[in-house]
Amino acid sequence: VEVPSLQKVYESYFNIGAAVNLRTIETQQNLLAKHFNSITAENDMKFELLQPEEGKFTFERADKLATFAQTHGMNMRGHTLVWHNQTPEWVFHNSQGEKVTRDQLLQRMKDHMNTVMQRYKGQIYCWDVVNEAVTDEGPELYRRTKWLDIIGEDYIEKAFEYAHVADPDALLFYNDYNESNPGKREKIYQLVKSLVEKGAPIHGVGLQAHWNLTNPSLEDIRAAIERYASLGLKLQLTELDISVFKHEDKRTDLTAPTAEIIELQTQRYQQVFELLREYQEVITAVTFWGAADDYTWLNDFPVRGRKNWPFLFDENHEPKEAYWKVISF
Ligand code: XIL
Repeated sequence: VEVPSLQKVYESYFNIGAAVNLRTIETQQNLLAKHFNSITAENDMKFELLQPEEGKFTFERADKLATFAQTHGMNMRGHTLVWHNQTPEWVFHNSQGEKVTRDQLLQRMKDHMNTVMQRYKGQIYCWDVVNEAVTDEGPELYRRTKWLDIIGEDYIEKAFEYAHVADPDALLFYNDYNESNPGKREKIYQLVKSLVEKGAPIHGVGLQAHWNLTNPSLEDIRAAIERYASLGLKLQLTELDISVFKHEDKRTDLTAPTAEIIELQTQRYQQVFELLREYQEVITAVTFWGAADDYTWLNDFPVRGRKNWPFLFDENHEPKEAYWKVISF
């Protein structure tokens, strides 16, 4: 059977993206070129990969991914500029090992953005400027990070201001996970709303969408989309995968899922895309955090050693039943 291109089927709806790395642009090259019109670097544009030491930028890997996008006429998203993870320790300390001052850290943030965003200007159309700044814990809004500790709550708006100066044409996104769960959703909404009210140059909200068979519910996904869209911003699913496990399931499973589980995943993909199509006016891209089941970061997360099969394409890059449901409408 002829396999239609996912990206072409969704052409009039939204971009279809995949997170990639140096290995998958080789091993999944044909699949990526056919079905996806956007890529995100899975790791290679994070702070520790781009500037492992102060002023020493290492662009080789990121450049290879950007070249891959260019060669295949794909869009590219930038991920990510300000985050608590995968950011080197030097950023927060001076040469004596003491904590830097607020002004020093703001300067480092600005320098990093200027160098990185100007390098990929015209090539990366959209950046996750700040990633995961909202806490899952308790009633507090802000995740406790070194950025927050040293700069204060305005580190987020500063990041957007600097990003806008570094590349005035780039679309600037706030990106987070558990984005559809009621409590976190409301906190993210409050944060983004305050940015909009302060006039910060923010253009969109990224819903990471690391979902599983039971969580979040379709109602909660819908509520999240409507809530964020009510701020007048664009939305993107930035890291979609649907784990073959149920929410609280911590089994360490190495064998392929049963037919019953695969059927649940198929239904889930069908329902999710049905819902996303309803919101084509506000959703501008749906990026998977990978492309096919032969490689996923979920093979070790959140349960070490556990394998997973979260995509529309199987380990041989053949379309799964879920794929056929997603393209039939
Ligand atoms: C993950 C990568 O997929 C892994 O390879 C890496 O070890 C850790 O980071 N939220 C994000 C992504 O914003 O950057 C993370 O990517 C997955 C969760």
